[in-house]
Order: sequence, then C-alpha cells, then structure tokens
Amino acid sequence: MSSSTPAPWWRTAAVYQVLPRSFADGGGDGVGDLAGLRARLPYLAELGVDAVWVTPWYPSPMVDNGYDVADYRDVDAVLGGLGQAEAFVQEAHALGLRVLVDIVPNHTSDAHAWFRAALAGDARARARYLFRPGRGEGGALPPNDWESCFGGPSWTRTTDADGRPGEWYLHSFAPEQPDLDWRNPEVRAEFVDVLRFWFDRGVDGFRVDVAHGLVKEAGLPDALGRDRRTEEHPGWDQDEVHEVYREWREVADSYDPPRVFVAEAWVARPERLPLYLRSDELHMAFEFEPLHVTWREGPWRRVVERGLATAALTGAPSAWALTNHDVVRQVTRYARTQWPERGSNESERARWGTEEPDLALGRTRARAAALLTTALPGLVYVYEGEELGLEEVEDIPTERRLDPIHTRSGGRDPGRDGSRVPLPWSGDRPPYGFSPPGAPEPWLPQPPGWGPLTAAAQEQDPDSTLALYRCALGLRHELMAGPLVWHEAPDGVLAFARGTTVVWVNFGPDDVPLPAGRRVVLASGPAPDGVLPVDTAAWLVPDEEGSR
Ligand code: NOJ
Repeated sequence: MSSSTPAPWWRTAAVYQVLPRSFADGGGDGVGDLAGLRARLPYLAELGVDAVWVTPWYPSPMVDNGYDVADYRDVDAVLGGLGQAEAFVQEAHALGLRVLVDIVPNHTSDAHAWFRAALAGDARARARYLFRPGRGEGGALPPNDWESCFGGPSWTRTTDADGRPGEWYLHSFAPEQPDLDWRNPEVRAEFVDVLRFWFDRGVDGFRVDVAHGLVKEAGLPDALGRDRRTEEHPGWDQDEVHEVYREWREVADSYDPPRVFVAEAWVARPERLPLYLRSDELHMAFEFEPLHVTWREGPWRRVVERGLATAALTGAPSAWALTNHDVVRQVTRYARTQWPERGSNESERARWGTEEPDLALGRTRARAAALLTTALPGLVYVYEGEELGLEEVEDIPTERRLDPIHTRSGGRDPGRDGSRVPLPWSGDRPPYGFSPPGAPEPWLPQPPGWGPLTAAAQEQDPDSTLALYRCALGLRHELMAGPLVWHEAPDGVLAFARGTTVVWVNFGPDDVPLPAGRRVVLASGPAPDGVLPVDTAAWLVPDEEGSR
C-alpha cells in the first residue's frame, strides 16, 4: 500500500456485534427485531463504532440461536423479513456505519429445503451432506468416533421410507445442524451465489462461522479421542478449505468497494492460522485468547504479543474482542479468582468457577480491559451490552434456558444464554425499555437490578461505563495511530505506546505512580494525584497535548 492510499476502513474499525433478538424489540412481541435495531442506529453512531455485525438473521428454527439456517436468501419473519434488512443496511450506511452479517457455511438447519429433500431420499440432495452407513452389525454404530461440539456423538441415524433404520448423517454441532459436504461442487456454487445475494444488497462483509470446519479429512477417519479444541482433528482445518476462501475472495474483490471477511477459525496449531489470512483468502480472523485469558499482566502481555506477531506475519490486522455470544461476559469472568492454572479444555463455564462473583470488582477490571483492547492496533469488536457493563446472567431458570450446550449436557453446563439476555435500555424493571409497553415478557428473562445499567441511566452519568466506551471509541482513531511499542513499567503494569499516546494498565498488586511529563486523557476509574490504582487503565499524552 503506498503512503498516499488511505488504509481501508476495516483495518482499524470498531465493530459492534448485535444479536438481533436481544438488542431491541420494535414489534412488541418480546423478541428483538430489525425495527428495534433501526430505531437504535443513532445510539450506535453516537457510541462511535464504525460498523455493525449482525449475527444470523436468516429464517431459522432457532435451535442454536440462528446458527441453524433454513434459508440463506431471506430474513426471519420474526425479525421483520428481507425488507427490514434492506432498510437497515441503507440506514446504517447513511449514518456512516458499515454492515457485516454472519454466513454459516459448515452446516444448514435440518429445516433447510436441501436437508428435507435429502431425508426424503433425493440422492442429489443427500450428496450435499455427509450421509454414511453405520458400523457394526446392521450399521447400528456411528460411522466414526467423532464427538459433537455440543456433546454426544457427531452422528444421527435416519429412518428410511420403509420405516427401517437407515444411514447416519454428520453434525459437528446439534443434530438439527447437519454438516454440508464441501467437496461437492454444488455446495460451493450455492454459497458463492449466497455471497453475491447479500453483497448485491449492500452488505459490506461477512463473519464466517466455523471457517476452519468446512472440509473434513477424506474418508472421515476416527479422531481417536483427540480433543476438537486443543488437538488436530480430522473434522477441522483441512488444506482443501483454502480453495473455498480463494474463490470467495475473488467474489469479494469483484465488488467496489471490495467486500470483507472475518474468520471464526479455531486451529489446534497456531502456525496454521496465517494460512487463512493469505492475501487471496480471508481479511482477518478473531483473536480468541482475550475471551479466555485471566486478568493478569503476564498472560495478557503474551496474548497481545502473539496477536501482533500473527499480524506482522500475515499483514492482516488483529481482530480483538473481550467477549461475544459464546462466552461468559467479562464482568463476571473478572469478578472471580483469576485461576492461572485452569486448562483450556475445560468447559467454558467450569473454567470460571462458581464462587460468588464480586461484580463491582469485575466491572472495574472490565473497564480497564476496554481501555486496553480499544488501544491495540487492528480492529476491536464490542459485543452488545459490554458498553453497559452487563454481567453474565447466571440464574436463568433451567426451564427457560434454550442453548443446546445446556440441554445436551443434561443440564450440567448452564450454556450460553446468560450472555444473550435482552439489553436494558431504560426504566428500573424488566423489560427495561427493551420492548414497547404491553409486550409479553422478553424471550430470555432479564434480572432485577439492571435499572442503573440501562443506557438511559448511564447517559446521565459522565463516569458510567457507557460514557467510558463513548470516549474511548471517540478518541481511538485519533490517539491510537502507529505500531505498538512496549514500554518499561512497574511490576504488574502493562505499558505501551501508540505514537505519542502511552497506555498503562495496572493489573496489580500495587497502586503505581504514573510517568512524569504526561497527563491522563482517559482513565477507566479514578486516578487521583498521579497514581494509577490497581485494576485501572489510563491513556496518557504528553503534558501539552490532549483534551478531556
Ligand atoms: C460459532 C457460533 O459463534 C456459535 O454461537 C455457534 O453455536 C457455532 N458456531 C455453530 O454454528
């Protein structure tokens, strides 16, 4: 890139992640929708983000929060249908916001027309999925030993038209999410067409769900007990998947301006991630370690170093996120003892423990973490509600929980619903302005006590988390230019510069004096008399600069 060419928007963007059913309910049925999202677009513009990523909005039986897609060329009627989506894209653009949507290519819903035809015996439709005869006597055993990411076997047996047990089909997630066969050219052609469908409607890019999973090892060999998350697994990360992304990149580049992809790609060997980020493949991939790293200086430093090393190697910008719809919200993660030794193959919720959370502490740390990630080179993703400092809702009654991780674990794992609770906008009791008056209760129950966390309440308070995010996102493009340069700092402090701005994050154990010759332009909490307290972060500029 020549110095006179401005960097494309996506290299430094702040992207706000919306779960449309949990964001705002315009229609008054207790479920968020695109009318609600459209009405709140000015809120997002004022927050200071550059783009909005909408998680799957397609027609869906909602077995997995929309990641079970029944029709890739439409929008669920509950959300308002395709017309609402088109109006949303136009209005977002008019406010200067780009729009990313989710594409779910690894699997369809079992309600998709292709899978229905496959079950009805249509051979051509069956060849788009991974149907296989079972093993053992009468084919009674699954074709291989793979386990589903949501627990239990990765295979479900079908029943033939004559009522007899038939073949099995592969599902890396829930049985209602049958995996497609990406070695079938019809599948590849279909998704190229789906990409064009949305690009033609002005969508600026896609977040690619399970980007590493599309192609499986030929012959579907046994995994022999290998863990999907931490070890190489024949269901993930095969070389042939890159042909798919090279074709997709050509499609994205054929538009003006070129469209963009962000990958959700989990790879067991980190050196395989850059393969997805080659200049003729995907534009960026999420950094996942910040979702799991404990609130300690050393681990955080290593996370940042690894992300920057990948960016240096690939030329792709780092895509940072503190949380998303799959993990425990950061306020709750940081509200518990920060176990250094917990293993990465524990279930997400087991990893953070069950001790009573100190939510005030969690919020203090989450605010500091926000000033860390918004200061890093690359993109920052903000998940709806993190700008309000929402905690994980951990006491959703069992009968209201919907996540298949909960149901398929026999209730042992609470699942992800606690991070997907509808947002509080105003008022002091549910539905906190999420729905218009008279609507039924929101689809997931909101807790009591969120009155002070509503957007309306925080708008009145210059020290609120919402105000902090507005300041950070507002100043970020101006203050955070240039590469990251590490600085020396007292023990427990992560310190770096971006241009003339210096960032200090104090993980503890002690309060520390701030460096001389600089003044605080933004701090995550009180920093009186030149002291940076524990669990606090600050952005500092040379004495003569800055504004706040
Ligand atoms: C990743 C998505 O983020 C998650 O919510 C979903 O359950 C799986 N992919 C399966 O689509």
